[in-house]
Order: sequence, then structure tokens, then C-alpha cells
Amino acid sequence: MRVDVVTIFPDYLAPLELSLVGRARRDGLLDLRVHDLRDVTTDRHRTVDDTPFGGGAGMVMRPDVWGTALDGVIGEGPAVLLVPTPSGERLTQSMAQELAGAERIVIACGRYEGIDARVAEHYSAVPGVQVREVSIGDYVLNGGEVAALVVVEAVARLLPGVVGNPASLVEESHGEAGLLEYPVYTKPPVWAGLAVPEVLTSGHHGRVARWRRDQALARTAERRPDMLAALPPGDLDAEDRRV
Ligand code: ADE
Repeated sequence: MRVDVVTIFPDYLAPLELSLVGRARRDGLLDLRVHDLRDVTTDRHRTVDDTPFGGGAGMVMRPDVWGTALDGVIGEGPAVLLVPTPSGERLTQSMAQELAGAERIVIACGRYEGIDARVAEHYSAVPGVQVREVSIGDYVLNGGEVAALVVVEAVARLLPGVVGNPASLVEESHGEAGLLEYPVYTKPPVWAGLAVPEVLTSGHHGRVARWRRDQALARTAERRPDMLAALPPGDLDAEDRRV
């Protein structure tokens, strides 16, 4: 997969050289390139923004600057143009899965009050380009860079070969079960006066599986009742309902 990130703060993306994503890049599983939006400007001040039509506070990023930058990175083939914005559709695990199937993703990181709306409109009409305005949560960041980090990490770990043991992707929170993950424990068996739940050291696989499912259900009910309510009715059996 190739990912291009366009930003006025390329250094913000430096963490993508670390850890799993960094290794995926070095292993050739992810071709990630970061571009400085200001490189396409032609004026002395390298201007990328201007005052909003209609008035109001803050500055808006200019469509002509973004157009030049994006025309330079969006290739001929199919691509997702992902625009992080608090007014976008919410990033979910299933969206990350969808994005992991894309050949190319271009991430346009806005700053200030955002990017002139004509940029998304224009590229929506370009054949092969799918524009997705995406929010990583109901809070406002200073720009799209942190959201880009989140999207790249969420997507890169789903690419074949990136996570060493693919089984570790199966039982995670927000995975297929639609539940939060159960609590996990390791050695030592007693720490700070707290013992590991007895069932986990019982060696009884059936009891362990039931206990984990019960914990996942109880956690989800307490922390994310919306997720529990969204489960298809057939997903809960009689044993589940007992919890
Ligand atoms: N830019 C500013 N806030 C954001 C958010 N919550 N999600 C995505 N991009 C953003």
C-alpha cells in the first residue's frame, strides 16, 4: 500500500518511522511519503491560507494551493483522498479494514478552520478518487496531523505481514464480536496483593472462554452500552443474557 500525507508540519509525522509502522515501511509493506504543502507555494511567504468568505474568526486553507499539491501526488489509479476533520464520518475499525484494502491513500491534513470545501467537492468528481472526510472522535484537534497518525497506525497494522501474529488481530476490542476486549493478565500470579483470576490458571479452556466472554459482555455493558445495543439479536445466546 502507498500512503501520501500532505501537511504544513511534516515533522509531526516522524513517529511513523518507529515501531510496527516503521518496520512495515522498512520491510516494503507500506510505502509512506510525507510532503510539505508549502513546497507548492510560489509567493515569498509560502502562503497556504486566507480569510474566510462570509467573515468569521480564523483562516481557511486555499483550494488552489491544495489543488496543486494533490494533483502532484494523486496518481492515475484508484485512490482514497482522506481528509481528517472533526466534521467527518467517524473512524471505526470497519472503516480501517476498508481502508486497508485500498491501493493508495492520500491524507490531506488541514489546519486553522479547515480546507476550502471546494477541494473535497472537486476531487469527489475525479474518476478513481474516493473522498472521505474522517473524524477520529468528538473533540477538536489543532489540525489533521494527529488524526493522520491514528489512521495510518490503525490501517497499517491490518496489512498482511505487518503484525507478526495475525491471531492477535482476531479477538481485539472493536473486532468482529462487536464487544470490548476482556481483561488480560500475565506473570507474576500475585502482584500488589492482587491475584490473577483463578479460572485463568485452571487449564480449563471451556471455562476460560466463558469467563472471557462474560467479562467482555460486562465491560461493554458498563462502558459502551451503545455497542451492546447495536449487536445483532442472534449474537447473544442464553448464557450471554445471564450476564
Ligand atoms: N482535525 C481536528 N479535529 C479532528 C478530529 N477530531 N478528527 C479528525 N481530524 C481533526
